[in-house]
Amino acid sequence: LNNGLALTPQMGWNSWNFFACNINETVIRETADALVSTGLATLGYNYVNIDDCWSYVTRGKKGQLLPDPKTFPSGIKALADYVHGKGLKLGIYSDAGVSTCQVRPGSLFHENDDAALFASWGVDYLKYDNCYNLGIKPEKRLQNSYALVMYPPMRDALNSTGRQIFYSLCEWGQDDPALWAGKVGNSWRTTDDIVDTWKSMTDIADKNNKWASYAGPGGWNDPDMLEVGNGGMTSAEYRSHFSIWALMKAPLLIGCDVRNMTSETLEILSNKEVIQVNQDPLGVQGRRILGEGKYGCCEFITMSNLQCNLLSQVWAGPLSENRLVVALWNRCSETANFTIKLPAVGLDGSSAYSVRDLWQKEDELHALPVLDAALKMDSPAPEKKRSERRRHAAVLGSQALEQK
Ligand code: DGJ
Repeated sequence: LNNGLALTPQMGWNSWNFFACNINETVIRETADALVSTGLATLGYNYVNIDDCWSYVTRGKKGQLLPDPKTFPSGIKALADYVHGKGLKLGIYSDAGVSTCQVRPGSLFHENDDAALFASWGVDYLKYDNCYNLGIKPEKRLQNSYALVMYPPMRDALNSTGRQIFYSLCEWGQDDPALWAGKVGNSWRTTDDIVDTWKSMTDIADKNNKWASYAGPGGWNDPDMLEVGNGGMTSAEYRSHFSIWALMKAPLLIGCDVRNMTSETLEILSNKEVIQVNQDPLGVQGRRILGEGKYGCCEFITMSNLQCNLLSQVWAGPLSENRLVVALWNRCSETANFTIKLPAVGLDGSSAYSVRDLWQKEDELHALPVLDAALKMDSPAPEKKRSERRRHAAVLGSQALEQK
């Protein structure tokens, strides 16, 4: 959506994955505090997004949305002021149907009033869900006279407030949103809800991959929020989750309780170089280039363990400054060696490459703990002239390495 926002995927926190409906203004304030004190805010996590359950179960006498007086007694404006005071932005949630999924009032037929109210509160981001939508699929809503009851009216309503508000569509991947949502929102969900399991996370990554070519500055595929730190996966699995979300240019919306994170969780979420892959100005979604998980990866890869070979994949994508991000994704349950040849990632070996492991934070590769794999690259051709520009290959991206 051409509203000046989302030039890179949004980063921040959202209440749903950890808190579901158990939210209140204290949680939101303390989360803003924690984002700052942990350094996550400085790394770019700047949206503090309240999900479902913030509003009272009925509208007020004038038809206006009301914050739940028990859990948000100070109101949303006060919360926005607090969050802004910390240098962060506040996100809120509503629904393109008559009710939200947790049966609070939806914004259908109230788009203009609700958008104006959000703007008057100082809201910076709207996640717009898809429950109780009168059974009309989003695409249909786009194509016919049901135009009143869909995502574009809220886009227009937000636009007419004059306040810049990030518009996040949460239509659960219904009707191939990548095909139509680029003109409607700043991001669109490509799948059902994530749950905190390896299976859910990998399935979602595979589904989101299909839409890679539709992502770019202004509008991103959204494979749902991060589960890193919620306890259902191992640290290696969470590193994979974070790496692939970064590579896929997915929104990096933290979904755990940042007030009580382990140091391991914080370390994963704080990997600056992986974040830079996600926020790279080129804005091209990386994709799976080898390995469908069924028939083995490819002639370019040999692994010590045959079964692991069958389960492994290579994901890659271009970055700015002539760099490339590559993820060797071991989906096997045991450690395996990857040997990958340069042509597999589109490099012909005719010039020298610098390689950096973004998890070991080393320029020379010894191991890839993120993937529980070791990597060997073909020896690059000998460097030609010192003055010649070197190309930079990377494993999970590379810092801009000094040109030699
Ligand atoms: C469905 C969405 O997909 C979730 O992310 C969350 O917003 C819930 N609804 C809230 O009810």
